[in-house]
Amino acid sequence: MRDFAGRVAFITGGASGAGFGQALVFGRAGARIAIADVRRDALDAAVDRLTEAGIDARGFALDITDRAAYARTADAVEEHFGDPVTLLFNTAGVNGFGPIETMTYDDFDWIMGVNLGGVINGMQTFVPRMIAAGRGGHVTSVASVGGFEGSRMTGPYSMAKAGVINLMESYAQALPAHGIGVSVLCPASIRSNISDAHLTRTQPAATGVLTDDEFVGALREVYSHGMDPEHLALHLKRGIERDQLYVIPYPEVRDDLEGTFGRILDALPDSDDLDPAGAASRERALAEFRAAARRRADNAERTI
Ligand SMILES: NC(=O)c1ccc[n+]([C@@H]2O[C@H](COP(=O)([O-])OP(=O)(O)OC[C@H]3O[C@@H](n4cnc5c(N)ncnc54)[C@H](O)[C@@H]3O)[C@@H](O)[C@H]2O)c1
Repeated sequence: MRDFAGRVAFITGGASGAGFGQALVFGRAGARIAIADVRRDALDAAVDRLTEAGIDARGFALDITDRAAYARTADAVEEHFGDPVTLLFNTAGVNGFGPIETMTYDDFDWIMGVNLGGVINGMQTFVPRMIAAGRGGHVTSVASVGGFEGSRMTGPYSMAKAGVINLMESYAQALPAHGIGVSVLCPASIRSNISDAHLTRTQPAATGVLTDDEFVGALREVYSHGMDPEHLALHLKRGIERDQLYVIPYPEVRDDLEGTFGRILDALPDSDDLDPAGAASRERALAEFRAAARRRADNAERTI
């Protein structure tokens, strides 16, 4: 997809970091920009900056974990711009790091709720509207390279991002039939405010998320060397123009990813030496099931 001009873009987390970079880049490409964020003050400042840059932008206060509010916001965006949203960016996210064995239910609920639940809510709200509008479009969700591998200090975050990557794989098979492209952006590090994500959280009863000055300071230092959000959005725009599912513009993570996927492939034996006949029968049954599922999906598309 290359025709961004005139389309309405909805960007969650658009008041800061990666989302704000997307608002600038796609706004300059002629899209009309709705930014949604839970931080109202940051939202107002971001809209002022976008407007100064000559971009048609409007801010919408939204907590993406609130499904009813999400639907109301979608209505308000369509009413304001007089057109349906055909560019969706599920960008809002929070990090909450700490030893996995100290993470609490509250921590899991918060991190999964925003990072995965928020993406699900975005897809549930907008995909049916985009299909019904019949104008095609593009959906991007922001995951993380952290979603390719778990880690003892980032457990719930990595798990949520793995879910986002996997979810976009599924949509990428389904939505092109409706003229809607799908991308999943997997950043390594971004120059953003995410080290302060805990400040957007309502006070948890118990938490294992580290928020002491030393730890947050160390995170801030790492992110201060992250990719410029505007550059990241330019990489994303190029990925969308090339119809890429995966956009991972960080050459420095190649060795890590090769290690991760190599370890997974290494777990596969060359053959099932205990039951070769069973393996052949499993393979046949799976191929038949896949063919039937494909026919079912094709029929469903024809009837939508
Ligand atoms: N910063 C990094 O190094 C990095 C690396 C990999 C992935 N990411 C991902 O990039 C995305 C953007 O993060 P960023 O680094 O630009 O951080 P950021 O904190 O600068 O921006 C995220 C925005 O999301 C908003 N937000 C948080 N919770 C929300 C909610 N419940 N509803 C609505 N808005 C909410 C915040 O207010 C903030 O403005 C996130 O999904 C993050 O996980 C970031």
